[in-house]
Amino acid sequence: MTQPHSLSAQASGQFKIGGDLSVNRLGYGAMRITGKGIWGEPDDREEALKVLKRLPELGIDFIDTADSYGPYISEDLIAEALFPYGDTVIATKGGLTRHGPDVWPPLGRPEYLRQCVLMSLRRLKIEQIPLWQLHRIDKKVPRDEQFGVMKQMQDEGLIRHLGLSEVSVEEIKAAQQVFEVTTVQNLYNLVTRQSEEVLDYCEAQNIGFIPWFPLASGSLAREGSLLSSVAEKHQVSASGIALAWILQRSPVMLPIPGTSKVKHLEENVAAAGLILSDEDFKALDQQGKAEASKQK
Ligand SMILES: NC(=O)c1ccc[n+]([C@@H]2O[C@H](COP(=O)([O-])OP(=O)(O)OC[C@H]3O[C@@H](n4cnc5c(N)ncnc54)[C@H](OP(=O)(O)O)[C@@H]3O)[C@@H](O)[C@H]2O)c1
Repeated sequence: MTQPHSLSAQASGQFKIGGDLSVNRLGYGAMRITGKGIWGEPDDREEALKVLKRLPELGIDFIDTADSYGPYISEDLIAEALFPYGDTVIATKGGLTRHGPDVWPPLGRPEYLRQCVLMSLRRLKIEQIPLWQLHRIDKKVPRDEQFGVMKQMQDEGLIRHLGLSEVSVEEIKAAQQVFEVTTVQNLYNLVTRQSEEVLDYCEAQNIGFIPWFPLASGSLAREGSLLSSVAEKHQVSASGIALAWILQRSPVMLPIPGTSKVKHLEENVAAAGLILSDEDFKALDQQGKAEASKQK
């Protein structure tokens, strides 16, 4: 049951992926429901299942995952907690192998990408993946071979919409020669801004832009971060302000904050309907850019 009032991701507005798959803009990233180094089972499996079950109640109908999260654990837990998914869009990714905690070598050979898709379908217990994204373009394999098999699998009906991750404008344009690019997932948050040009291109093309690390891996959620004073004013958490800022940055922005805790999930959803004043938005923007240039 969706909560229509204060605590609902509906308040973040909607975006149509590929022009026909409508989701609430504030989604959820399911990478954090695995073990340390995104390897193995989560420390608290029960809490991870509770987080997933709380998503539809909070109006979150866009979940980002990948076969490599765990590996497999994230997709398996999603199926265990939420299948059948109703209106919830499960977006998954493939194209990375796992050789241990925090180790993710890409593998873009067409036969492996096909295996990724077929196995995600099996784990998620569905016949078509609503949105499948190439986790990384493998530089060792001609990119057109990778794009080609993606288009083929879409034509076969295994995938509805296609997306990319960690790409440049030039790479998006190259993929657009082969298939319709409906989403791009790049590292982006208030203090990490190297993808501004990609974001602007996505906005111009109406491609959904999915910023990963929207909370700078949690550092923007901490007490004393540059968001604290605005957070105090609005009586919400610092993570809420980071998400409100990112949602306000562009109408194609689809943030997927990750958490393993129900309490944090609820705090994050509280940001869905928060509107920052122009003054606060611009001040944060400037401080974020200044912070970003210090980190270069
Ligand atoms: N395409 C790619 O290459 C790529 C790469 C990385 C991630 N992703 C996707 O992007 C999603 C988001 O990235 P992310 O999860 O790495 O980073 P994130 O959303 O920026 O931050 C997640 C971290 O913030 C903490 N957190 C979340 N809400 C909080 C709150 N209200 N208060 C305090 N701490 C809070 C979480 O800890 P707790 O668990 O303790 O809440 C977690 O450690 C991932 O889940 C994944 O789906 C994609």
